[in-house]
Amino acid sequence: MNVKKLLTRNEFFDRDIISVSQFEQCDIEFIYTLYVALKECRGKGVRLLKDKVMAALFYEPSTRTSSSFIAAMTLLGGGVIPITQGVQFSSVTKGENLSDTVKSLEQLSDVIVLRHPEVGSAEIAAQISAVPIINAGDGIGEHPTQALLDLFTILERLDTSVAVPKDLLTVAMIGDLRYGRTVHSLVQLLPKVFRHIKFTFVSPKVLKMPDNILAEVDSYGIEYVETSLLDFHTPDIFYVTRVQKERFTDKKKYQSLKDTYCITEDDLKLIKKDAIIMHPLPRVGEISPEVDRDPRAVYFEQVGNGLYTRMALLLAVLYRGKK
Ligand code: NCD
Repeated sequence: MNVKKLLTRNEFFDRDIISVSQFEQCDIEFIYTLYVALKECRGKGVRLLKDKVMAALFYEPSTRTSSSFIAAMTLLGGGVIPITQGVQFSSVTKGENLSDTVKSLEQLSDVIVLRHPEVGSAEIAAQISAVPIINAGDGIGEHPTQALLDLFTILERLDTSVAVPKDLLTVAMIGDLRYGRTVHSLVQLLPKVFRHIKFTFVSPKVLKMPDNILAEVDSYGIEYVETSLLDFHTPDIFYVTRVQKERFTDKKKYQSLKDTYCITEDDLKLIKKDAIIMHPLPRVGEISPEVDRDPRAVYFEQVGNGLYTRMALLLAVLYRGKK
């Protein structure tokens, strides 16, 4: 499929990407179609953003999100302002606020990819900025681009499309559901595609899914169970997360929680043959390295899919497409 041709029906031009709540099923379908086309050509020969610049403004550490956005923009022929090696090397250390930083970067770039520790920061930046903002994680809020790449990985593994509803899908989300922004986004995105879905939220009580997110799940009329016990037999998808160390002021509390769950090679015997094991990474002990060899482990595949997802999003936001 020709990428340029697909972009003639682009509705995303000049839009911010802040939350999964902004996506309709047809939007997801459009981004997924672009993603598939980009993956087919391995991202080569689509240098459609030659005169564009992406600012990557990361106030929190990142390996995969920042590098896949930079690789995506590079493959699309664009330039990058990388403020990803820690804002300590930028004027933020001198006390500059988010607003002034955004107002300056909008003068120099066509899109700002923002990761910031505060919930709602991407939304605030979008109100200030004249160029589109892409939320690369706003504290414990959301991580919409991760949720899209997670969804696309699931669709590929299930060999299904956005439009085709699957039979009942059981998804276990495991670990730090309170502070983990990836699960906050994914849990709201999946029901837009999978109408027959059931969630099991597996966490220690203190790290349970926040009530506002549960209310969202309820609003879809979707069934869920909250538990601290991990059942290996039922889920089709295991979405494992680390306990978010940086959100704890009490480090002893973190230490007491961090090793609650660990998927080991022995557990693999118990899970379904066609289940998949996902993780947004980084992992710090939730999945033992021996599990990596199992074909059901898809977390490094997720990283690769992040490249095409971010290429699709950058094209959608920056390439007008329509005549
Ligand atoms: C996640 C994040 O930053 O929220 N990482 C990522 O972007 N892949 C998950 C995490 O840090 O635990």
